[in-house]
Amino acid sequence: MKLILCKNYEEMSEKAAFEIAELVKKESKCTLGLATGSTPVGTYQRLIDMYNGGELDFSGVTTFNLDEYYPINPDNDQSYDYFMRKNLFDHINVKKENVNIPRGSAVDPGEECNRYEELVRTSNPVDIQILGIGVNGHIGFNEPGEYLHASTHITDLTESTISANARFFESEDDVPKKAITMGIGTILRAKKIILLANGKAKHNAISALLDEKITSDIPATLLKVHNNVILICDEEAYYG
Ligand code: F6R
Repeated sequence: MKLILCKNYEEMSEKAAFEIAELVKKESKCTLGLATGSTPVGTYQRLIDMYNGGELDFSGVTTFNLDEYYPINPDNDQSYDYFMRKNLFDHINVKKENVNIPRGSAVDPGEECNRYEELVRTSNPVDIQILGIGVNGHIGFNEPGEYLHASTHITDLTESTISANARFFESEDDVPKKAITMGIGTILRAKKIILLANGKAKHNAISALLDEKITSDIPATLLKVHNNVILICDEEAYYG
């Protein structure tokens, strides 16, 4: 795992946006794997700035998001669909038909998981997958447990994730209890993975990434089997 240690959130966002921008400039028809949450917001803002400055063209780019709450309507301002539009898609020229997010409004979540998994597997492989990391070490919504899932699946969010995400909702009770998420196998199919982490709260999870162990109790440790992972993190996440 390659490490890029940054002073702060701004530098982390800068470095991540640079990696994505290099790819988009080189391969106009590339595929990006995207995450939501607070971590990548600065990265997305820098990509928007570069787009506005005429440096980037997203018209040939395809995107796949990691996850979506279930059940949730895409118009709900807490949905990841809404988040992506507000924080990135509404501000760049990516084509609607090239954007893929699990459908939180699907009637049959099992069917939706199969559809999404099939779509990821039959499309061009993800060139760069952006990941955040949960305080509990989750990636996507692959929560710690006795075992992990290989493919896209519906999952119960853990108490830790529900309380970490309560900051985005009026109360903890409003946080959806389930999500549809790419599985570990789906994520590991990406050619390159960029894991972003900032802030002291992520220190324990990041420390577990930097030792030898792989455990389903800290799902991000599964990234150690991939041969092209860059960890871009700030000093607080790295040193605690
Ligand atoms: C979001 C996702 C999650 C987040 C993680 C960190 O699409 O897959 O794994 O990346 O929960 O969230 P933040 O960035 O809000 O700390």
